[in-house]
Parts: sequence; structure tokens; C-alpha cells
Amino acid sequence: MLLHQIVFFILLIATIQCEEHLHANGPFGKSHVSAKISSPFNCNRSMGISPRSLQKMSVPITDLQVSSIRYSNNEKIYVSWTPLSSICKDDFIGVYFLETSIEAGACDYVDFEFVTQGENNSTWLMINLRRQLQFRYYSRNENCSGSYIFVAKSPIVAPCNYNEPIQVHLAFGDRNDQMYISYVTNSNKIIPKCRYGFDPSLLNFQVNGNTTTYKASDMCEEKANLTGPKTFIDPGYMHTILLEDLRPSTTYYYRVGSDEHG
Ligand SMILES: *[C@@H]1O[C@H](CO)[C@@H](O)[C@H](O)[C@H]1NC(C)=O
Ligand SMILES: *[C@@H]1O[C@H](CO)[C@@H](O)[C@H](O)[C@H]1NC(C)=O
Ligand SMILES: *[C@@H]1O[C@H](CO)[C@@H](O)[C@H](O)[C@H]1NC(C)=O
Ligand SMILES: *[C@@H]1O[C@H](CO)[C@@H](O)[C@H](O)[C@H]1NC(C)=O
Ligand SMILES: *[C@@H]1O[C@H](CO)[C@@H](O)[C@H](O)[C@H]1NC(C)=O
Ligand SMILES: *[C@@H]1O[C@H](CO)[C@@H](O)[C@H](O)[C@H]1NC(C)=O
Repeated sequence: MLLHQIVFFILLIATIQCEEHLHANGPFGKSHVSAKISSPFNCNRSMGISPRSLQKMSVPITDLQVSSIRYSNNEKIYVSWTPLSSICKDDFIGVYFLETSIEAGACDYVDFEFVTQGENNSTWLMINLRRQLQFRYYSRNENCSGSYIFVAKSPIVAPCNYNEPIQVHLAFGDRNDQMYISYVTNSNKIIPKCRYGFDPSLLNFQVNGNTTTYKASDMCEEKANLTGPKTFIDPGYMHTILLEDLRPSTTYYYRVGSDEHG
């Protein structure tokens, strides 16, 4: 990666983290800042764990309902359910990779939210992780002192477009007549192109760019080098296009992506 791209990505990450500190900690917009109870993140259940005795809930709830089984980046999905008559204070709903084990993977969510007594719905701000997801409800057995037990799941929720172009953004080039345009899709099958011009209906310039990605093995240390829902998540493919010979103080319009390959 070129130095200015690295600098740019660091700036971008810093920006995202600032926003997360203001609004939420979780990738799906869930705030964990003011939670009075500790996160199930550590799944620290050394007290009261009863191994393997998955006690049936006395009042099982039906499946979680979702407002849509398809999602696009930045869209909201409304999840609803019939409340349990009595809940544990750390009952939670998590969003999971579909392939995560329901029985063993209670703590392997991508984001979570605690459920409060009587609550029957919550809204999730989706990010396109380019994979199938599922919402799952967990409570605890042994009168809320034991292990997390699976209670209910939603239908499978999948991206509308696995190749949806996301994270479209601009960055300065080395010269002041240059501008980098970057975006992310799930495809490296075609050369990324940017069409641009002075008029949104006439994007008569076109330039090609590059595609790159990185793997868990490119990361220096744990946990970044471990693949998993809370560690390294496949970032998709990053496309970068350089616009050059731009005129100063001029508004340009640009367009990236394609229907087929994002
Ligand atoms: C887990 O629980 C034990 C016993 O309650 C406690 O000593 C330990 O600090 C906890 N660890 C974490 C990571 O919360
Ligand atoms: C959800 O709970 C609210 C009270 O918090 C209630 O007014 C509403 O009717 C409930 N919705 C459903 C679908 O049961
Ligand atoms: C969703 O939950 C809120 C409170 O948590 C409640 O006021 C609202 O009525 C619920 N929506 C529906 C459609 O039940
Ligand atoms: C749970 O609580 C009920 C009522 O207090 C009690 O009868 C039961 O033995 C408890 N179960 C466990 C596993 O502690
Ligand atoms: C991940 O990083 C740790 C150092 O933090 C290293 O010991 C380990 O071998 C790395 N694992 C892989 C799969 O690269
Ligand atoms: C794409 O890669 C080529 C060859 O490595 C390089 O010369 C060019 O500057 C790159 N373009 C962008 C936009 O990074």
C-alpha cells in the first residue's frame, strides 16, 4: 500500500472510532457505553455454570421476526418477539454469522444488545458484511446463574447485493490536482473504473484503478490475526482510483461501481 493510502486509512479508522465513541460501541450501532451490567463479550460465567444441562425455558418464545430478510449497508432491520414472562438481567440478542454454532457460539456475536423486561422489539443498523447473518436470543439457565442457553433465532438475513459498493470516499493525492477515490466491494473480477465530469448527466471522463485486500495473516498480532466475528473479518476488496489533472475550484461529479460487480 502506498504511504498516503495508509495514512488515509488510519485517518478513516480514527474518524469512525470517534463517531463510535459518541454514539455506540458496536458495529451495528448498539451502544454499550452505559450498560450497568458487564458485557457478555467475555462470557465470564465461572460462577454457577452447569455444564451441558440446557434447561428448557418454561415459556419458550417464538422465533424472532425481522422486518426484512435482505439488507443493504446502512439500512435498518426491525427485530421483534414475544417477551418471556421473566427474563434474566443479561438476556441478550446478538447478530451472528450464520455459520456460528447456535449451541456453542452464544458469545461469538458480531454485536449484541441486552433485552429488558417486557421489551418486544429492537432496531439494528446494518452494515454490509457480505455474508448471511442471523439474530439470536440467549438467556441463562439455573435461575439466571448458569450458562447462556439458546432461546430463539430469526430467519436468515442476507445482503441484497454481496457486491454492493460501500465506504465510497475521497482522499487527497500527492499533488493538489489529484484526488483518490476508494470504495469496497466483494469482487476483484473486473478493473475498477470511475466515470467523472463537470455535469452529473455527462460523466465523460473515465479512469481505471486498482484492487487490493488483506488477510488475517497480514496482521502483526493477535487478536487482529485471528479470523472470527469479533476479531478479523474479511474486509472485502478495496478499490482505489486516482483522478489527475483536476482543475482547481471546480466541482466534479463522479460515479464508481457497476450493477454486476458492485
Ligand atoms: C471472571 O470472573 C471471576 C470470578 O467472578 C473474576 O475473578 C474475574 O476477574 C473475571 N474475569 C473477567 C475477565 O471479567
Ligand atoms: C410491544 O410492547 C409495547 C409496550 O412496551 C406495547 O404497547 C406493544 O403493543 C407491544 N407490541 C406487540 C406487537 O406486542
Ligand atoms: C417497540 O418497543 C417500544 C418500546 O421498547 C414500544 O414503545 C413500541 O410500541 C414497540 N413497537 C411495536 C410495533 O410493538
Ligand atoms: C430456581 O428457583 C426456583 C424457585 O426459587 C427453585 O425452586 C429452583 O430449585 C431453582 N433452580 C435452580 C437450578 O437453582
Ligand atoms: C498471531 O500473532 C501472534 C502474536 O501476537 C503470533 O504468536 C501468532 O503466531 C500469530 N498467528 C498467526 C496465525 O499468524
Ligand atoms: C495501481 O498499480 C500500479 C502498478 O502497481 C501503479 O503504478 C498505480 O499507481 C496504481 N494506481 C493506483 C490508483 O493506486
